[in-house]
Amino acid sequence: MKEHTSVMLDEVLAAAASLEKLDVFVDATLGLAGHSSRVLEAFPSAKLYGFDQDAEAREIAAERLAPFEGRWTIVAANFRRMAELADEPDFAGADAVLFDLGVSNLQLTEAERGFSFQNDGPLDMRMNAEAGAEGRTAADILAEADIAELTAIFRDYGEERYAFQIAKGIVRNREHGGTLTTTAELVELIRKILPAPVQRKMGGHPARRVFQALRIAVNDEMGALDEALDGALSILNPGGKIIVISYHSLEDRMVKHRFRKWKDDGAGEPNPRKPLLPTEEETELNHKSRSAKMRIFQKYEEETDEEEGRDDAPERA
Ligand SMILES: C[S@@+](CC[C@H](N)C(=O)[O-])C[C@H]1O[C@@H](n2cnc3c(N)ncnc32)[C@H](O)[C@@H]1O
Repeated sequence: MKEHTSVMLDEVLAAAASLEKLDVFVDATLGLAGHSSRVLEAFPSAKLYGFDQDAEAREIAAERLAPFEGRWTIVAANFRRMAELADEPDFAGADAVLFDLGVSNLQLTEAERGFSFQNDGPLDMRMNAEAGAEGRTAADILAEADIAELTAIFRDYGEERYAFQIAKGIVRNREHGGTLTTTAELVELIRKILPAPVQRKMGGHPARRVFQALRIAVNDEMGALDEALDGALSILNPGGKIIVISYHSLEDRMVKHRFRKWKDDGAGEPNPRKPLLPTEEETELNHKSRSAKMRIFQKYEEETDEEEGRDDAPERA
């Protein structure tokens, strides 16, 4: 199914409409260009730069963006390289930058990508899984990491209560000659490791948090977001907005703290102050939107300079 329902689309369009101008829209997570195509449609003078590290997503996005020829550039790179946009010839700064984090439905439903505990496929999970792509796959991590590293991954990225038990079970399985190459094998092993009453208490699929944790580790998702947020601020025009839709508390926490730091630095402020949630209607129609949270940061028109307002600030001759 080469589809993806864009989350909080009306809220993205409303944030874009509230800007004084929208000449340049940067989509850090182009995906299937769901948000971006609607932005180009609604703002006829806007130009788009869209990042995606997934070749298949870029191909579909290009088809979807075809009617807007001449108004978009697809960047085949990790969004951690956001700041480099400033080096592009003709790049006039961004009026809005959108992050719609995580994986698309396309990635989730294609078994061979290995993202889903519901479809059997190889334990890959690399978003940039092109021929010759570098980086550890989920199978590599499960084959190489020791109990401490696995525990940290499951605990820190999956907030998994049984991180240590699962990590120990995986390493024991390895010591007995067991290998993990498919998603179904990992699900089966987790079901074997965790006693049935624990699985019943977990609420949701017993492998859900482990899969999320492995995906975050394989793609260094927290590291990429960390770099990209500052990159986004560096290319943002005065008055511009950074819009982030996140799907788990780790991401949301990072975004919340970064926005707070930027405010303390005098760069701008969260606007609105509180995060936005999808409407009930949306969550009923699109299950994936249930965990979504949107935060928006607006850069001040003029950067406030602490020194400026001070009587004793040195003056230049
Ligand atoms: C949730 S989907 C975006 C869907 C899109 N907003 C739409 O409406 O069609 C997230 C996309 O971001 C991409 N992505 C995630 N992390 C990335 C990163 N660090 N660099 C570049 N692309 C990334 C994924 O490959 C995926 O296609």
